[in-house]
Amino acid sequence: MTLTISPARLRDLNALRKMEKVVFSEDAWPVIDLMAALFIPGGIHYKAEIDGNIVGFISAENNLFENVTWVTTVGVIPEYRNQGVGCSLMKAVEDVVTHPMIKLCVRKSNSGAIHLYEKLGYHTQNTRRKYYSDGEDAFVMAKTKPVMVVPPPDL
Ligand SMILES: CC(C)(COP(=O)(O)OP(=O)(O)OC[C@H]1O[C@@H](n2cnc3c(N)ncnc32)[C@H](O)[C@@H]1OP(=O)(O)O)[C@@H](O)C(=O)NCCC(=O)NCCS
Repeated sequence: MTLTISPARLRDLNALRKMEKVVFSEDAWPVIDLMAALFIPGGIHYKAEIDGNIVGFISAENNLFENVTWVTTVGVIPEYRNQGVGCSLMKAVEDVVTHPMIKLCVRKSNSGAIHLYEKLGYHTQNTRRKYYSDGEDAFVMAKTKPVMVVPPPDL
């Protein structure tokens, strides 16, 4: 079993749409949103493939006004969960983020995802009441990227 993480492209749209439906069912992004996400300049999108099949996807976008990168979706198909795929997708995004902070929204009841984010160093910042269409609240979770301090050259 070989896991590959690589940038997702528009040509992956059909496979990603099928995967999203399996992962999120009624919460899956409409195809137009998925297409728009893949088009947005500066957006960050990675797919996870195992033996050539897409098993996971992550999308993130930069908010220049907030100086924050928001992870907008992350999902792994059920058969491949708890094997490190979600963690690898999160780390792929974190590796390329240039903003000092990464944020995401998660359903209050989604203890599996919350466990993953906490393990990766995210903490709950606040709650958005009735954020989801069914009325469930969201936790906003955030992680500060460590800043690389370059020492001044010896004079
Ligand atoms: C959340 C999700 C992306 C995690 O993907 P994954 O590939 O299973 O994550 P990993 O294998 O890297 O797991 C990392 C940790 O989270 C834990 N974990 C992941 N899903 C879990 C679950 N449903 N319940 C309990 N723990 C879970 C793993 O056990 C692991 O912790 P451990 O190393 O301490 O055992 C995946 O469960 C998923 O697609 N869920 C449905 C969609 C979703 O909720 N997305 C997030 C929206 S905010």
